Amino acid sequence: MATINKNYGLLEGGYLFPEVTRRTNMFIAENPGVKVMRLGIGDTTEPLTPTVIEGLKTGVDNLAHKKTYTGYGNEQGNTELIEAIVNDYRKRGISIDPSEIFVSDGAKPDSSNIQSIFGPGTVAVQDPAYPVYVDSNVIAGRTGPFNEDTGQYEGIVYMPCTKENDFFPKLPDGKVDIIYLCSPNNPTGAVATKEQLKTFVDYAIANKAGIIFDAAYEVFISDPKLPKSIYEIPGAEKCAIEIKSFSKSEGFTGVRLGYTVLPKTFVVENTKKGEMNAAWNRRQTTFFNGASCLAQPGGIVALTEDALRESQKTIDHYMGNAKIIKEGIEYLGLTAYGGVNAPYVWMETPDNMDSWDFFEKLLNEAHVVGTPGSGFGPSGKGYFRLSAFGDREDIIEAVDSIVNNLKL
Ligand code: MLT
Repeated sequence: MATINKNYGLLEGGYLFPEVTRRTNMFIAENPGVKVMRLGIGDTTEPLTPTVIEGLKTGVDNLAHKKTYTGYGNEQGNTELIEAIVNDYRKRGISIDPSEIFVSDGAKPDSSNIQSIFGPGTVAVQDPAYPVYVDSNVIAGRTGPFNEDTGQYEGIVYMPCTKENDFFPKLPDGKVDIIYLCSPNNPTGAVATKEQLKTFVDYAIANKAGIIFDAAYEVFISDPKLPKSIYEIPGAEKCAIEIKSFSKSEGFTGVRLGYTVLPKTFVVENTKKGEMNAAWNRRQTTFFNGASCLAQPGGIVALTEDALRESQKTIDHYMGNAKIIKEGIEYLGLTAYGGVNAPYVWMETPDNMDSWDFFEKLLNEAHVVGTPGSGFGPSGKGYFRLSAFGDREDIIEAVDSIVNNLKL
């Protein structure tokens, strides 16, 4: 007799972004002809850069000829792409072996799948956090039920990130086993300093815990003092896995390409060097047939100097949007964070309004869609996220509409 994985029944409601879309579509159906401006999901809007387009075309052309045609590739990724990634780290003074890199179809699948190489244990997340970290652990059975009163799943350690601690958590009080950190942070837009990351690296080594470091937004850091990789912190290679993405830097949200770095020196309780790396290799070779041979040539050229110069213009464009959004919110006398080294603006709702109520208010009055802070965790209550991914004219129109139509 087959049964359902009952852990799905533990999940609180639907996944955040489809819920945002559902409510937006309901508004559109009830208000035909009204133009809705979307600053909700962080989805890229700018066309790919010329160099990357050429790379992607190579992928297509290769399939057109007998001599260059390829079928299945390495599950770990195209050797040339892995070399390009190794080189990208080398340029930053970080030494990674090719066997420590696993190319994938994006940071979202990696950040949900990576928990499968850990045994049972206590998970700690920044609160608020990208919902994938919590949901994947609920499905895997590492939590108890959702508690309506606390807004938390039992068994998960929520590490509050609020304005009082500059949106970076203090260390967990007790011992935890798996820690998710995201910097630049989705959703708060805060970027961890080297000193802040060091406290977690030291904790993880002392407690034989594993850090899963989501660096999907690192390209948006312009302040040279801020770390772009957790491996800039001495000792991180013993306790941290880093997840990266081509989605936001290259506009690959639809193309799908990312990678995970899992050093052979990464160890947790009762493991030898290389064992966790081998476990992830086993997981990927069993469950995954490798990233698309159409996407990977795009990734190879994306890491060349020409392409990096071109994509910097796109990054500057999104960060220009972030500045416009932040200034608009501040013009209204509201408080906003992030948006400087990260493409998300994290605002306080007026009069500490419930995040979903503010979602409805913003949609009804300004026709702008954002993401309710409480959807990222209980400490997101009273906050709201605005995404800077968008066309410049649309962003200006949305901010004008907020400034002119939001009733405060
Ligand atoms: C977001 O809006 O948080 C992201 O676009 C979601 C994602 O990258 O999956």
